[in-house]
Amino acid sequence: VYQEREQIFSLNKLAAQLYNYFLTEKEMGKKALDYLKARGFDLKDIEKFKLGYAPDEWQILLAFLHKRGFSLDLIEKAGLVNQGKNNSYYDKFRNRVIFPIFNNRGEVIAFGGRRLAKDDFGPKYLNSPETTIFSKKKNLYGMHLAKESIRKENTCIIMEGYTDVIQAHKNGFTNAIASLGTAFTEEQAKLIKRYAENAYIAYDADTAGNKATLRGLDILSAAGVNVKVVNLSEGSDPDQLLKEKGRNAFENYLAQASSLVDFKIEMIIKDKDLADPGIRLSVLREIINLIAEIDNELKREIYLERAAARTDFKPDVLAAEIKKELKNKS
Ligand code: UTP
Ligand code: MN
Ligand code: MN
Ligand code: MN
Ligand code: MN
Repeated sequence: VYQEREQIFSLNKLAAQLYNYFLTEKEMGKKALDYLKARGFDLKDIEKFKLGYAPDEWQILLAFLHKRGFSLDLIEKAGLVNQGKNNSYYDKFRNRVIFPIFNNRGEVIAFGGRRLAKDDFGPKYLNSPETTIFSKKKNLYGMHLAKESIRKENTCIIMEGYTDVIQAHKNGFTNAIASLGTAFTEEQAKLIKRYAENAYIAYDADTAGNKATLRGLDILSAAGVNVKVVNLSEGSDPDQLLKEKGRNAFENYLAQASSLVDFKIEMIIKDKDLADPGIRLSVLREIINLIAEIDNELKREIYLERAAARTDFKPDVLAAEIKKELKNKS
């Protein structure tokens, strides 16, 4: 099994090199190269993150790896082929920009593949399945490049996706990593904790991103990481913001990041009609529950005032309700 793992590492490395060769050296990779350039990425970024292109062919990787002596069994265990009819196999990634995923030591453990156009076949991103060397929930994209900065700065910036991280590193935010999608896990929190005590969550400013931020906040604080939330403008993500507004704008967003409680208050209020008595009451209840959970009186006081100002409740009313709630709890 040890040997098998080593073989999958070298197979993956070779696959990444082949994809990168197609992207940077071959005519058939030109449209993928143009796609990346149009998104603001250059050859330096491609080299740093070892990006590639999987051609629109059924067995190009399979044939290549076979010729290099890797068995079908191993290629399948690496998650690089799908099984078709009559025991035939074909390349999993076809006509996609390839983002290799690395472990902390910089070895390729999996791949993400992005379609070039919206009406191209399949989901926007296709990812390697779980394998003996890849567990999605234990990994953070970009960590092999970011860990030194994270340690030095004692903080990291957690983003959603591949392109967010690449754009961040390009703009000097070399402590950026991604949870790849929106499910943040305890294992990922522990991984961060190994390098830093602080973190920013900079997820996409959309419903999915907000929900994931709320979960990520709790998981990170439970793991003992001090966490702040970057509030990007509605509909945006770090990649887009950096490209459109530049690094100073992103720096400002970081400086204005909100605390866990502030973000939760905003999420409770968001899209609620506070003039409606019924809604007002339920918002009040949620805020009281939130503040009653804070285990420090001074902190409770601070957030009580902010919540009152934010909702136009009288601070005294909120305070009295919170007192009741605390009594109930004890
Ligand atoms: P997003 O939809 O925010 O994509 O998903 P993105 O990172 O901004 O990518 P671009 O800018 O459209 O190219 C965030 C992350 O969720 C995962 C990917 O890891 C992606 O980077 N994802 C998304 C998938 O795995 N599959 C999908 O179909 C979509
Ligand atoms: Mn099989
Ligand atoms: Mn998103
Ligand atoms: Mn996004
Ligand atoms: Mn994006």
